[in-house]
Amino acid sequence: MATTRPAKTTPADITAAAAASFEACSDSRLRELMQSLVRHLHAFAVEVSLSEEEWREMIAILTATGDITDERRQEFILWSDALGLSMLVDALAHELPAGATESTVLGPFYVPGSPLREYGESMAVESGAGIPAWVCGRVLDVSGAPIAGAELDVWQNGADMLYAVQRPEAEEDHLRGRYLAREDGSYAFIAVRPVPYPIPDDGPVGRMLEATGRHPWRPAHIHMIVRARGYETVTTHVFDAASDYLDSDTVFAVKPSLLRTFRERSPDDPERPAGIDGPWVSLENDIVLAPSETDEDGGAVVDPGRTA
Ligand code: BEZ
Ligand code: FE
Repeated sequence: MATTRPAKTTPADITAAAAASFEACSDSRLRELMQSLVRHLHAFAVEVSLSEEEWREMIAILTATGDITDERRQEFILWSDALGLSMLVDALAHELPAGATESTVLGPFYVPGSPLREYGESMAVESGAGIPAWVCGRVLDVSGAPIAGAELDVWQNGADMLYAVQRPEAEEDHLRGRYLAREDGSYAFIAVRPVPYPIPDDGPVGRMLEATGRHPWRPAHIHMIVRARGYETVTTHVFDAASDYLDSDTVFAVKPSLLRTFRERSPDDPERPAGIDGPWVSLENDIVLAPSETDEDGGAVVDPGRTA
């Protein structure tokens, strides 16, 4: 009986067969994503002549990433951040009109549902969180008109380099809060001067950074999500222009337009706000929102869950 010999299976044949396996997918976007993913993954393996040992190691890293991820720790997002993918997707998603505040990474420490705080209120619930920082500015549209009622959802790390969500014993609402812009668009709150900190580096991402000679540090920053009806929501940071690591942020999130100067103030400065004792700093930061393209309300950010 004659046997048919299988066609020679070259690397190119395997890639073509794997891509073709999605040809019948009725969702054209899913088909495009899967075929392109297969082609790029295969091209990567071919380009570096991936060995079986290296491939097994990559599977072990993915397994460890799954093992360490839970509702308080999201190692997959950390991979995306540390490989620059989060910032790339951000750049592809946001084409802004001139003058609008630029976006940057959300990061894994955002916790929805921060308390609504008064104009000028401190978000430091625990004492000794750091040097008090008076942060103020206006929320404006691109023509310079105030956006009354815009919501600023703010969070940051303390002088101990940690976010409250990283410390099980911390007060839940420490160093986070939501603030509303007044009729003239003005807002203000008391934060603490942020300090640089390392991203969580005790898992697979940390081992990659160590093995490749990269550091885990982020420059000092305060996070904000700003929302208002009829405007695009912006997820952004204010970076301390005097911080270390501005030119080597391990998640590639620094944009020059987001740098601001913290002014050092003395305890007897006549502008010292109520609620601040001792040395303090101040920072002015206007936020400019782009008009919404979908004409929907400035809605909630897609909730990534409590991931830190
Ligand atoms: C953050 O800024 O909170 C952050 C961003 C990306 C990775 C880790 C932390
Ligand atoms: Fe951060």
